[in-house]
Amino acid sequence: MDLPVSATVPNEGPLPAYRHLTDRGLLQADPAQLRAAEVLQDLWRRTRGYDPQPEDPEPGGFFARFMRRKPVAPEESPAGTPMGLYLVGEVGRGKSMLMDLFFACAEVARKQRIHFHEFMQHHVHARIHAWKRKHGDTADPIPPLADSIAAEAALLCFDEFQVHDIADAMILGRLFQALFARGTVVVATSNTVPDDLFKGKPGRDAFLPFIALIKRRLEVLVLDGGRDYRRQRVIEMPSWHMPADGRAEAALDAAFRELTGQDHGSPMRLALLGRAIEVPQAAEGVARFDFDTLCGKPLGPADYLLVATHFHTLVLDGVPRLGAENFDKARRFITLVDALYEHRVKLIASAAAAPDKLYERGENAAMFERTASRLHEMQSRDWRAQPHLP
Ligand SMILES: Nc1ncnc2c1ncn2[C@@H]1O[C@H](COP(=O)(O)OP(=O)(O)OP(=O)(O)O)[C@@H](O)[C@H]1O
Ligand SMILES: [Mg+2]
Repeated sequence: MDLPVSATVPNEGPLPAYRHLTDRGLLQADPAQLRAAEVLQDLWRRTRGYDPQPEDPEPGGFFARFMRRKPVAPEESPAGTPMGLYLVGEVGRGKSMLMDLFFACAEVARKQRIHFHEFMQHHVHARIHAWKRKHGDTADPIPPLADSIAAEAALLCFDEFQVHDIADAMILGRLFQALFARGTVVVATSNTVPDDLFKGKPGRDAFLPFIALIKRRLEVLVLDGGRDYRRQRVIEMPSWHMPADGRAEAALDAAFRELTGQDHGSPMRLALLGRAIEVPQAAEGVARFDFDTLCGKPLGPADYLLVATHFHTLVLDGVPRLGAENFDKARRFITLVDALYEHRVKLIASAAAAPDKLYERGENAAMFERTASRLHEMQSRDWRAQPHLP
């Protein structure tokens, strides 16, 4: 979505920006989001012009300037004031949207918005690795790492904060403590409340101080209620893109991004009763295939059923016009569409032509008429408003 932070709209912070979007009907008014926007507005106000110096001669001096009060112990929050925000809630509630709004408005000279997984891979593990290669295993990499991260960003916005593995869990406590001590402000979105992070994993006890630190230094805001706007968007999304050219591909890329929050899904293997199907890209209940991968190979009804029960949305690239010689592809496509239809799977496709022009001659061409009719119906708003039947 285009955020209303431009030369034409003066930057008065995320709350007016949010109001601007809801007033113009670009976003639906949502009381929980409004509350979050108010909290973000407060943080926006407190971080305006914030610019902690990487090497402060006086410990805690930058806090003093930031808060205009006496210096405090560097790892403590001045007078209990939260330094940042942890925005948590179920999928599609608008956490990333709100954080992006805040980020776009933030008047902090050094700011960075990054997917948390990418941050851990490219900024943390890669730099620790490089540091150890240079300085050996005995030198502590955390202080110089925190120095370099804090020098790059006084405001760090993390999307999809999550702790999966022990390697991350062991680093995070000391790293975040060091970042907070350097005055870094953190805003994060997550599907997991801090108390549930890394839950049930071996080594959790050693991780608990990190949870305590997060709760001490960040305001935890639950974005509850509301609805899954992402699901709702699929209802309104154009779903049949013709012809299957570069523009259609870009539209499918955008749809996938909008529905999953990711540019690309991960490959996965769906297996049941001795059958297995490789899904090239999957994320958040959405699968992306190209036509030849799904209908150009000897797959059968059981495979399509597996796809239709597992995913609520299918993004399908490049449905071609099929001639009589492609009767086998046509038959598979018929079976696929039947499975999608039965299970109310939302289809977003790029295709060479309208559904009734895809397969006009050949074996099962008469049967394809029903497929075309279903494909038309599956584009209607009413049909798309029905929930997935797994
Ligand atoms: N109030 C709203 N009205 C209309 N659309 C909205 C609203 N809030 C969010 N959206 C849209 O819904 C989609 C999902 O929102 P967003 O990606 O921010 O959710 P999220 O909470 O980050 O989900 P996840 O936990 O899966 O990352 C986005 O396309 C977003 O622009
Ligand atoms: Mg998100």
